[in-house]
Amino acid sequence: MKEKFYLTTAIPYCSGKPHIGNTYEVILTDAIARYKRQQGYDVFFLTGTDEHGIKIETKAAELGITPKEFVDGVNAEVKRIWSLVGASYDKFIRTTDGYHEKAVSDIFKKLLEKGDIYKGEYEGWYCVPDESFFTDTQVVDGKCPDCGRPVQRAREEAYFFKMSKYADRLLKHIEENPGFVEPESRLKEMVNNFLKPGLQDLCVTRSSFTWGVPVPGDEKHVIYVWIDALSNYITALGYDVDEQGELFKKYWPCDLHVIGKDIVRFHTIYWPIMLLALELPLPKKIYGHGWLNFGTDKMSKSKGNVMYADELAELFGVDGVRYYTLSAMPFAADGSITYESIISVYNTDLANNLGNLVNRTAAMNKKYFGKKIQQRGEEEGPDAELREAIEKAVKDVRSYMDGYRVSDALAAIFEAFRRANKYIDETTPWTLAKAEGAEKRLGTILYNLLETIRIGAVLLEPFVPETSKKILEQLGTDCKTTEFGGLAANNETAEPAVLFARIDEKEFFAKLSEENKDNEKDVNKAKEIKEELSEKEYEPLAEAIEFNDFLKPDLRVAKVLECEVMPKSKKLLKFQLDLGFEKRQVLSGIAKFYKPEELIGKKIIMVANLKPRMLAGEESNGMILASGHDDVHVLFADDDAAIGDRIC
Ligand code: MSP
Repeated sequence: MKEKFYLTTAIPYCSGKPHIGNTYEVILTDAIARYKRQQGYDVFFLTGTDEHGIKIETKAAELGITPKEFVDGVNAEVKRIWSLVGASYDKFIRTTDGYHEKAVSDIFKKLLEKGDIYKGEYEGWYCVPDESFFTDTQVVDGKCPDCGRPVQRAREEAYFFKMSKYADRLLKHIEENPGFVEPESRLKEMVNNFLKPGLQDLCVTRSSFTWGVPVPGDEKHVIYVWIDALSNYITALGYDVDEQGELFKKYWPCDLHVIGKDIVRFHTIYWPIMLLALELPLPKKIYGHGWLNFGTDKMSKSKGNVMYADELAELFGVDGVRYYTLSAMPFAADGSITYESIISVYNTDLANNLGNLVNRTAAMNKKYFGKKIQQRGEEEGPDAELREAIEKAVKDVRSYMDGYRVSDALAAIFEAFRRANKYIDETTPWTLAKAEGAEKRLGTILYNLLETIRIGAVLLEPFVPETSKKILEQLGTDCKTTEFGGLAANNETAEPAVLFARIDEKEFFAKLSEENKDNEKDVNKAKEIKEELSEKEYEPLAEAIEFNDFLKPDLRVAKVLECEVMPKSKKLLKFQLDLGFEKRQVLSGIAKFYKPEELIGKKIIMVANLKPRMLAGEESNGMILASGHDDVHVLFADDDAAIGDRIC
């Protein structure tokens, strides 16, 4: 019987069209699923959409439609994009599916009955416009750490999950199961920043909106969207508290949850604790991939730098998009995407290295042998090296993919293609074609090339399935073995065709800007931005000051040496700054807007003569300048600005 392999993506919020970052995740998971199928596993690949929550309720209200109508529209868009990029999922779950909502309600009830969830009161500082509670240590001078507006003391009835009850068991599980979370660096952050300092009970209901699964028997509360969303991984398999379903029995525990780095905490702490409370086995592995950024910037609608898979596929083809995203994302770090970088990778790897190789080889086989595949003769010259190169690729792909190192696996295949191109230059088939009595040797050379390409195409299937299929069609074979020598002689190769036409960067950008000129969407977007701007309420200008008053704050250029999220406050980042003449620790309430790694090494501007103050139990010695309330942007100094220089 085939060994099972169950893998999942995170389920994206159904609040808008998924961008290339969200889509990368489904492409990545798809590549792993296809690879596992190729390896003979019985694969179950789950994806879906996260359809509840205040954001969706608000967006629907703004459009004057029901939340269900809203999510139906977005869900159709997600499915369209997933199928466009070739996601070979076995099931698509929506958190608004009836069976899921029932199971979530039952799970909540069971945990309530067990005493793991209890009803309590949430007391804290409430920010009315943000509808958020904050603790004493989170508020800054009586103001909301997010928007800076005054907060008020408030109490709210809510349900809490006794997280701490399971913390030791989870820690033990993590210690006994190395590789539970990959990459390891992400696990360390969870253990050191959250598990070891002690878990607080988690508030698992909301009463400020209604678009969610109601708490059974207390319907003015809805179940926290993360409890609802995380449960999808078991409800999709037919799990409910008093029935387990065939798929659940067969596929649970999950072999691999593929998620982004920002939601590692939910998957490595809350989700396993929920499972422990439900007395269910824990998933085997959680892989937190990095983020795909636009250049070095986070993709965001407000910055206008969001890219979408369908638009990219129009320009570079589906496999162009799959290849770029899979190869550009390293295992443990973020990746970057720009038009320039896709064009460069597309031309170098797909058009030149792979495309040319296939085209030249098929063309030579046509020219010299009327397309007929020749017998392979004795190995000589560089033949063994070429064979060993593709055999190495077979081995490397296996070992990289077993550790989910997808970009490394792709690089290993392309290394073999590079070797094949070199082989053509070394063996110069065109000279042999003119030489007397060299036909057999020429036939062997072409066989070796065709066979290397064939094995390469088989290896490529999980990553760029359409291309893999086209190459095998060009070679006129459906042989899928990765053993060298599988290609049958005497068959015919097909008519040579161009797999990836080179892209001229200049022409590309000229065409793109031409298209953008009369692109209705852009016109509408510009209108929207204009409307947004005219509706924006600007903060009134402060009173005029004397020049000497302006000189009072001592503003300096400082470099970020270290930056980390404060374990005690989700809002604060803790910085160690180099001011040139001294080092400073500064705390700043911008954790919602920046990840530490986005700031380390950057030069910022700080108020260096602010009196020290205590925040969340730590001293903050200065202030980092940033603009905005709802969309905060740190003011960075130019790379060449000297550390410690004063700003005036
Ligand atoms: N709904 C939650 C997940 C619940 S899972 C039980 C959520 N949704 S999301 O839409 O914000 O993100 C969906 C996935 O896309 C997450 O894994 C997230 O990390 C990933 N990405 C979001 N932006 C991304 C990039 N720019 N690059 C790569 N992945 C990105 O979180």
